[in-house]
Amino acid sequence: MYVLGIESTCDETACAIVKDGKDILSNIVYSQVDVHKAFGGVVPELSCRTHVELLIPMIDKALKEARLTLSEIDLIAVAHAPGLVGALLIGLNAAKALSLALGIPFVGVNHVEAHLYAALMSNQQPPSYPCLGVVLSGGHTALWKILALGNYSLIGHTIDDAIGEAFDKVARMLSLPYPGGPPIEELATKGDPTKFAFRAGNIKGKPFDFSFSGLKTAVLYALKEITPTETTYADIAASFQEAAFKDILNKTILATSKENIQDILFGGGVANNQYLRKLFQTKAPHLKCYFPSKALSLDNAAMIAGLGYHIYDRRGHISDVYTLQCQTRLPLANFLE
Ligand code: KG4
Ligand code: ZN
Repeated sequence: MYVLGIESTCDETACAIVKDGKDILSNIVYSQVDVHKAFGGVVPELSCRTHVELLIPMIDKALKEARLTLSEIDLIAVAHAPGLVGALLIGLNAAKALSLALGIPFVGVNHVEAHLYAALMSNQQPPSYPCLGVVLSGGHTALWKILALGNYSLIGHTIDDAIGEAFDKVARMLSLPYPGGPPIEELATKGDPTKFAFRAGNIKGKPFDFSFSGLKTAVLYALKEITPTETTYADIAASFQEAAFKDILNKTILATSKENIQDILFGGGVANNQYLRKLFQTKAPHLKCYFPSKALSLDNAAMIAGLGYHIYDRRGHISDVYTLQCQTRLPLANFLE
């Protein structure tokens, strides 16, 4: 079954063709970083315009790379939530138009669920269920108990900033470019992670929830106290990263022992961080970690097409062109409708 995936939730325009949920025939991503760089963050209006300009040529390119024509596509999968509403609309309406014009079924896919599915696509061996889903992206930070593909229950989530958002904001304080994760990771390799005693927040009575806004403010205050040099900035980057990831590590370990879980799926752009991966390998060797490959960890449409296949095939689900709406927020648990 050939599935065309479309992704336009935020600042990546992406199209992909995936066979039977796993075999990636093409995976084209246009990162709009250069469009938004000057503003230090995503400008929704610019994101929408870029999606409009790029989407159709990118669908053509994805088909060409896969050596297929539209008439050979069996299903269209589109990320319809969560994300920026204007940006979502571009991909969703393109998918609806194609579906109607060509008579091909289409399904709406939850972008966050697809981030977790990307870890399954990247690894040969399936995990043992229930496993834990750790979502670490620019817009989401959450721990999900995954009973099976499509069956989730929320364990904890951030009450303020998402982890990627915290990286992006701290990067801005350190005059690093957007998106801030990769340059912080790079700068942190030159710094001392024990130099500043930063800590992420704990929420009373909610041991699995996250809070990164206090950590961000602590970085701001620390910056006011120091002489800005490459070394002090590197120490701040390393200490911030250490505090953020130790918090994720500790809460993840706590959740796995409470739920008696051994396998973890990681999803989202921050899961690309090599320091995070090493931290889990060294501090939690008893846990089996499933990370997405580099091509599937940042926003992409292969994960949308891959999960779309399962929604259609296994869950027997087709979305209605006339009623499916995009949504800025959508918890995983409600996705089965
Ligand atoms: O999953 P993603 O591509 O988009 C969302 O769905 O939000 O994640 C983007 C986020 C950005 O905040 C970016 O700074 C962060 O992922 N990120 C990283 C790294 N690469 C990307 N954060 C830490 N370390 C990285 N290597
Ligand atoms: Zn994402």
